[in-house]
Amino acid sequence: MPRPLSGMFKSVTGLFGSSPKSTSTISITKQARRSNSQSSVVSQKLKTAIKIQRPEKLELETFETLAAQIQQSVAIIRDHLKEKNIPEPTFGKVDSPSLPRDKEIKEARQVLNESLYALQALNQYDRFEYIKEKFFVMSQVIAFMVILEYKIPHVMDPNGGPMHIAEICEKANCADEHKLIEHTPFSHELREQTKADFLYSGEILHRSLMEIPNAMRKWPNSSDTRESPFNIAYNTKDTFFEHLWKDAELTRRFNSGMTGVTSSSLAYLRTSYPWSDLGKAVLCDVGGGRGHVSAEIARVAPDLTFIVQDGAPVVAEGEKYFPADLKHRFKFMAHDFFERQPEKADVYLFRQVVHNHEDERAIKMIRNLLPHLTPGKNGSGGRVLIMDDILHPTQYRPPTVQFTVQQNLNMIAILNSKERTFNNYKELFNRADPRFVTRQWGAGGPQACEVIEAWLE
Ligand SMILES: C[S@@+](CC[C@H](N)C(=O)[O-])C[C@H]1O[C@@H](n2cnc3c(N)ncnc32)[C@H](O)[C@@H]1O
Repeated sequence: MPRPLSGMFKSVTGLFGSSPKSTSTISITKQARRSNSQSSVVSQKLKTAIKIQRPEKLELETFETLAAQIQQSVAIIRDHLKEKNIPEPTFGKVDSPSLPRDKEIKEARQVLNESLYALQALNQYDRFEYIKEKFFVMSQVIAFMVILEYKIPHVMDPNGGPMHIAEICEKANCADEHKLIEHTPFSHELREQTKADFLYSGEILHRSLMEIPNAMRKWPNSSDTRESPFNIAYNTKDTFFEHLWKDAELTRRFNSGMTGVTSSSLAYLRTSYPWSDLGKAVLCDVGGGRGHVSAEIARVAPDLTFIVQDGAPVVAEGEKYFPADLKHRFKFMAHDFFERQPEKADVYLFRQVVHNHEDERAIKMIRNLLPHLTPGKNGSGGRVLIMDDILHPTQYRPPTVQFTVQQNLNMIAILNSKERTFNNYKELFNRADPRFVTRQWGAGGPQACEVIEAWLE
């Protein structure tokens, strides 16, 4: 399987190109309110469907169409927050809540994001400025790295006002006052360990991303994991995970970061598949890290028990950090998923695992489960679940599509692998064993919450 050059192309078009939208209008229920004599707000659903008018294609958008969509989406979100008594997010407070992931505002949020992004692109003096903005993203990343290096969020008083840069420098023990970067309320977020760990472990990713062009020249058409941009950046023959596992601090940061990233999508993760319908069954979480994903599933599926498998250093961490109230339903074990699966389970879950591997390795991982799967209707003989960021190349406009194409580049950078479309996954299963039947759960949603389910028939 050649290096995913087409993936690179998609990544570039995803950032700068445009994609058609399948629908031109979006229906949203309008909420209206009335005040009673005590001036308390009584909400009343008028159930009047209003339409957000959208041109069929991004190319047809103008300042005015975009501005109108922004206004309408904001109104819908604002009304929903009022209706539910949720305060609006602000920049003024460190603990200002984030927007809820409520399904009622899902479309409005998407339209808002897409329209803001498009309007920002139109609001440039020239196209060069737009390209420059994309190119300078790296500087923002480095700013984060400096903030972390000097632990700047920790010298700030989260409830205090602005602090003079000289004072920040003194407290952070940083001599280079003139090189310090703007501190914003966002920096406070980095006081949280999992967020800082996520960005710290991103350093490997950034160094590897820089080597993509060199790796393409050095190893054209390669899909060998040991010929990744990462291998040039770190001058090693180890794979990304072998490199991590040799260093306890890198392993801790990566796993802590993965736990943190997952926490932002928990609400979707719990509902993107009917976990509790699995009943009294065993779920084997292959490459399950610290078991943080299964821990969430355990909370909504009380009859399930779990086996979490990963590399030995990761499993040791899982046992250390796992929530005490769930331990009796969990077993951790070291297992290399490129070897035959030793455990019989009803469900094998791979979350954010298959996208780390090119096709031949991914097929091997699936085939290693075959001795435990028997043919049966609707998964009664055992099933495999893959949760990854599914590529929908033409379904969404930027920036919605941008996250997945960026993840695609990330996968190329560290493991010479790629993100896939639903049909790509279907094809993988078919190549692993043509008896596999597949179906998809939960289209859209945040990181790696879509599910591809497969079983033998
Ligand atoms: C991107 S993380 C996903 C973790 C978790 N499933 C999640 O969704 O947050 C990939 C996981 O695969 C594990 N892994 C990598 N190579 C492995 C191997 N050969 N055998 C078992 N686990 C492996 C890593 O240690 C890591 O925990």
